[in-house]
Formats: sequence, structure tokens, C-alpha cells
Amino acid sequence: MCGIFGYVGTKNASPILFNGLKTLEYRGYDSAGIFIPEAGVLKTVGVVDGLLEHIGSNFFGTSGISHTRWATHGVPSKENAHPHGDCSSELFIVHNGIVENYQELRDRLTKKGHTIVSDTDSEVLAHIVEEHFLRTKSLERAVTSALKEVRGTYGIAVLSKSDPNTIVVARMGSPIVLGIGDGEYFVSSDASAVLGYTKQVIYLNDGECATLTPKGYRIFTLRHKKRTRRPTDIDWDIEEVKKGGYEYFMLKEIMEAPDVLADSARGRLVSEKGMARLGGLEDVKGKLKHVKRIVITGCGSAYYAGLVGRSMLEAYTGIPVEAELASELRYRSVVFDKGTAVLAISQSGETADTLAAIRETKRHGLLTLGIVNVVDSTIARETDAGVYNHAGPEIGVASTKAFVSQLEVLALLTLFLGRMHGMSKKDGAELARGIARLPKKMDEVLKEAGRIKRIAKKYSKYNNFLFLGRTYNFPIAFEGALKLKEVSYIHAEGYGAGEMKHGPIAMIDKSFPTVAIVPKDSVYEKMISNIEEVKARDGKVFALASRGDKKIEKLVDDVVYVPKTHEALTPILMTVPLQLFAYYVGVMRGYNVDRPRNLAKSVTVE
Ligand code: M6R
Repeated sequence: MCGIFGYVGTKNASPILFNGLKTLEYRGYDSAGIFIPEAGVLKTVGVVDGLLEHIGSNFFGTSGISHTRWATHGVPSKENAHPHGDCSSELFIVHNGIVENYQELRDRLTKKGHTIVSDTDSEVLAHIVEEHFLRTKSLERAVTSALKEVRGTYGIAVLSKSDPNTIVVARMGSPIVLGIGDGEYFVSSDASAVLGYTKQVIYLNDGECATLTPKGYRIFTLRHKKRTRRPTDIDWDIEEVKKGGYEYFMLKEIMEAPDVLADSARGRLVSEKGMARLGGLEDVKGKLKHVKRIVITGCGSAYYAGLVGRSMLEAYTGIPVEAELASELRYRSVVFDKGTAVLAISQSGETADTLAAIRETKRHGLLTLGIVNVVDSTIARETDAGVYNHAGPEIGVASTKAFVSQLEVLALLTLFLGRMHGMSKKDGAELARGIARLPKKMDEVLKEAGRIKRIAKKYSKYNNFLFLGRTYNFPIAFEGALKLKEVSYIHAEGYGAGEMKHGPIAMIDKSFPTVAIVPKDSVYEKMISNIEEVKARDGKVFALASRGDKKIEKLVDDVVYVPKTHEALTPILMTVPLQLFAYYVGVMRGYNVDRPRNLAKSVTVE
């Protein structure tokens, strides 16, 4: 995720900015840059250390802004790296977040003669500020007026050459922290980067702006109403701050699910028409109208997301869809018939098996698509078209927020393809409404964390688990079992609940608990019968059910309720309690859940 760091004071800003960027490295990034009004702009692709060779004694000034970029719009490159300047390089900005209406703004600015050199959504901010700056001659006024034109999220810092001692910052949806020093002030996207200099911080709220100079700081709203805020003292160490106060990145990333759901759908839902806008697929829209078959592929959690996608796409597009493990698909020949599109799902975009499957299917002339989180990764580059997740970097090895975003992007893809292939406007509008409501519902799911922790404590002593689900939640049974295996090393098996009687039921006894995923959906009664079968054999059952389901309470040993949603979206809400369950069991068993043994974040070997 992008990182912002800025400084204004009396010392040489360049080593301070460089150190700030180094501290922000853990957030994940692909390029970086610094602007010091008296010295100019430096940018690098790759690691922050790439800036070092240019930071000589003549790269000097007492203020500056800097940025680590994690690509969302446009590939990692020097042009796309921040800081971004206006037409005359008078002012520069660094930005975190997503400008939803950037295309609209870009078109308007280009028509007026602005030269926009990057592919980013962020650069337009520099040019709108420029327009207002030319008129108002005040950077503060220019920033607030410009932001009124922006739809989306931002944390920004702006600095101009004509007034190098004033940094203007603002926040809407992306964090901004002010560091209050003695005659020096800092701005950052998280407190870890300012901790080396001061423990006094102020977290800006949405809709707040601030001006920092060596003489002090001022906080105000977008409408220029003064805000009085007292700095708070942080006594966390840097590691704690990086994890946002959570013990592990895994928990932090699970807790980010509501934001991830908002970010992955941002600017993509056309709710009133019951449609989705997926810019990355525009170029292949013609081909997608005539597609005869879809093969979804991936590994591990990405493959399970693909299985959910299969159910969604088949239900609403009428196109035959299959999901195949990439490690198997690469060696199959039968699927390579004309009119087939292959959709690869990968968080990292570098998984060797998924990449090989894509290369193999491409060799047969098939249309290849990607759902990838890491922008410009190999799979993103090698597929014909695709959709980015916008989930931000995932540091914990176990996929949590990335998996949630994969499911949501598949729901968006279902809308996109469905409306081309006979999905009614009414069905589209219903699904779109369901997607739009997900972040709020996920907030409610996360409120159950305490209860899930208590349940995890009760179950953490068992050494075997069965996870059961059906239809949309059949793959979530696999994913729940995988998560538990990965972070707690407990033996767990995922099964389609209807399959239980064909074998696994033999294992059930009082020492072999079952986790059942039972939303109030079209197979609810079937799931209830399967749970009865487990109970009849003395098996303990922990169920995830829909809020308001009184019947289940009487049947199972433990239950966690999740809000009701569109049937196709139930896997999204059901998966997070299972992530939390695995997390708590893993931690209770004393493991480092961020770095499970024998696992790598990105599996680049076959
Ligand atoms: O980066 P990818 O999404 O391609 O990775 C695929 C799998 O390796 C990954 O999902 C793996 O199963 C995770 N450890 C699951 O938590």
C-alpha cells in the first residue's frame, strides 16, 4: 500500500525523508520518489535504496514530501511514481487512495491544455490544484477547492516551490498522521515513520486538512473551519505501529476486509443499471460477448475463489464454466477448444503453476484473462486483459483480504458478463445492491471477533476438523480447512456436505468436530440434514449461520451469526469468521501465524 512521508523544519530534509521511506517499506511498494523544493525531484523504480545514489550533498532543502507507490492505475515506472507535478513543476503532490472520477477530470484538464504525463489517477490532483493555485495564489485554498472536485479517497500532501516552508495535507478515507516535533513537523500515512523523531502525533479525521510550517501547524476542514486537536503520546514501538496495534499482520489484514471490499468495488458498480464497469476488460468486450466457455484457474485459495466464481458465473451468464487447479490445467489438453476463455486468479501474479497454465492456454490461441492483486506482475502482463483487486499488499503469508477481494471481483465480473449474456436488469440490480452493502455487513461480521475467539479457545485442543458447505459455500469449506491447516498445523478437511455420507462420516466421533457453513439459502434444509447426521454420531458442530436463524441454535454446539446477503455473496461474509477462527487457534497454539512453516507468500517454483 502506498506510503506518504513529509518533513518541514530546519534540518536537511533529504536523509529524513529517505529514512521515513525506509520505515514505510514494510507496507509494500514498487517505486518511490522525493520532492524537495530547493533541490528538485528524484524517482526510482524498485527499492527505496535506488534513491540513495542521487541523494548527494547538493540534494538539500529544509522541507520535502516523499512517497512509496504500490501501483493501482498504471504500471510501476518513473513516470507513474510520485511525487507528481503540475504543468510548470511549481507544485508537487503525493497521494494515497483512489480518485474515482479521474478519467472525467483527466479529460477536462487535457482539453484545457494540461500535459498529463503519467497513467495514474493521482497526477490529475496536481493539475487541479494548479488551476486553483493560479487563481487563488494560496496553496491552502487551492488544495481545498481542488478536493471539492474529487470523488474517491485520498490522503495527500502538497508542497510548492514558491512557498517551500508550507506543506498542505488533507485526508478522506486514507490515513494521515501529523508528527509534532520541536520546530519541525512531519506528515505520514502511518505513525511508524515519525516515531524515530517524535512521539507526539495527531491523526487527521476524514474531511480535515492541515498546514505545516517550521513555526507550527493548523488543522481545518475543507470549508476552512478551524479544528483544535491535542497531540496524543504514542508509546508503541515501531513494530507495533506497523501492525496497526494488532499482534500479527494476519489479524490486521482480516480486519481490513470492509475497506478492501469498498476499494475493490470503487468506481466499478453502476448500481442504477445493475451493471459493473471493468475498465481492464473494455478492450476484449467484443470477444467476451461471444465466449462459449470459461475455464477458471489458480492455486490454493485463489483456486477456491475460482470455484465460487464458477457458481456465480454459471448462475447468471448461462456460459459453461469450469474451475481447474493450475497445476493440473497446464497438463490437460481437452480444454483448449476454440471460444474458451481462461481466467487466472492470483494475488501475487507470480505463481509458477498459474503462469504456466496461462502460457500453455495462450499457446493454443485462447483468450486469457486475469484477476490479479499485484499490478504489472507477470500474470497481469501476460494475460490479454484483466481486473486488479485493489486489495493492497498482503504481508501475512495466509491469504485473507486478498481472498475476500477475489470473491468480490468475481461478483463484479458476474455482473459485467452476466448483463452481456442475458442476466436481467432486475437480477443485476439485486446483485449490485448486495455488493454495495458488503462493507457495512463485513463491519458487523468483524464485531463477532470476540465470540469467535471464545469458540476458538474451546476447539483449539482438537487435532482433526471437518469443514462442510454446499453450492456457493462448498469452496468456503475448503478454504476454511486450508486456513486452519496453514496457521495451526491442525489436520482439517473441506468437503461438500452431501459427500460426507460417502466416506468422511466414518471419521466422526466426539473427538472430531465439524465446522458447518449454513446460510439461509437454497440448500439450507439439506445442510441441516447433514448436520443432523454429524450430531447423530456424537460429533461436535460449530456453525456459521444467517442472523435470525433460531433453528440452528438448538441443533449445534456453537454458532456465529453473519448478516443476511444475496445468496451469491454469502461466501464473502462466511469466509472471514473462518479466517478469524484459524487465526485464534493458531495463536493459541503458540505459532507465528504470519509466517507459517514451510510456506512462501509467492510460490514461484512448480
Ligand atoms: O499469489 P497467488 O494467489 O497465486 O497464490 C496462490 C496460492 O499459493 C495461495 O493462495 C496459497 O494457497 C495461500 N497460502 C493461501 O493462504
